[in-house]
Amino acid sequence: MSGFSADWLRLREPLDAAARDPGLAHRFAAALPERPRLLDIGAGTGSALRWLAPRLGRPAQRWTLADGDDALLAAAPRAVAGWAARQSWLHLEAETLRTDLAAGFEALDLPGRDGVVASAVLDLVSEAWAGRFAAALAAAGRPPVLAMLSVDGRVAFDPPDADDAFVLERVAVHTGRDKGFGPALGARAPHVVAAALERAGYAVTLAASDWRLDPAADGDDGTAAALRALVAGYAAAATETDPGAADRIAAWAAWRGSTPAVLQVGHRDLLAVADRTPVMPSPARTC
Ligand SMILES: C[S@@+](CC[C@H](N)C(=O)[O-])C[C@H]1O[C@@H](n2cnc3c(N)ncnc32)[C@H](O)[C@@H]1O
Repeated sequence: MSGFSADWLRLREPLDAAARDPGLAHRFAAALPERPRLLDIGAGTGSALRWLAPRLGRPAQRWTLADGDDALLAAAPRAVAGWAARQSWLHLEAETLRTDLAAGFEALDLPGRDGVVASAVLDLVSEAWAGRFAAALAAAGRPPVLAMLSVDGRVAFDPPDADDAFVLERVAVHTGRDKGFGPALGARAPHVVAAALERAGYAVTLAASDWRLDPAADGDDGTAAALRALVAGYAAAATETDPGAADRIAAWAAWRGSTPAVLQVGHRDLLAVADRTPVMPSPARTC
């Protein structure tokens, strides 16, 4: 159990699909061989595969879905097979790998991968872990990396409420708590991971991949349910951070739960490819 339920991953999948940056996915695809062997770290039930596989332009793909959560790993094969059965053009081989990403990278077989994918995972890791992962990728020959949907700290409700900032400051503290990897990067993830990969010899591009939840415009029950789940999740995280403010946070959640609103949640997608920039010789030193 990782704290991420299959129900929540199902609710967020359409939001993620609408938010991911297709341009970075296209450039990731261009860096892959004809029959790519792909690794998705923290794969959950395979949401990233379902979005990305059709955008790779490769009829033969082999995926390894790595995760530490038994329940999600048990649900993944059916979720992927049910989807793949409707993609007649795709010859997909997919396997699951149970592994604790915090414990090291040996089990991931990074040298045997043509590309590495992550989605909504790198904001959980620590700065030290990001540095070790970047070094392991460099040692494995710098396969291209597409790390989607790391939070960047921007959260805005429309219409705003005077207590949004009060609650969201406490949520941000919670986001930085240890999620098993050391102090979590949270909103620092896009830039810290980018810097770690650049130090490891990658060229990195970031792109916005924000969620926009507008239940009235969508007319979709799923968006309304996701918005309710986010408000409840924010209230729970803020209360855990500051139990003394429980009543004020509960009042905020009750108001938010009963008032139509649009919610924007900032994320970044990150593409890293081996940096082929020629190194310029340093100017001759005269002293
Ligand atoms: C927010 S979910 C994202 C899941 C999936 N990538 C998606 O986009 O739907 C984070 C995932 O990271 C996994 N995870 C968290 N810590 C982990 C660890 N130490 N080892 C392996 N997986 C982990 C969780 O089990 C969960 O599936």
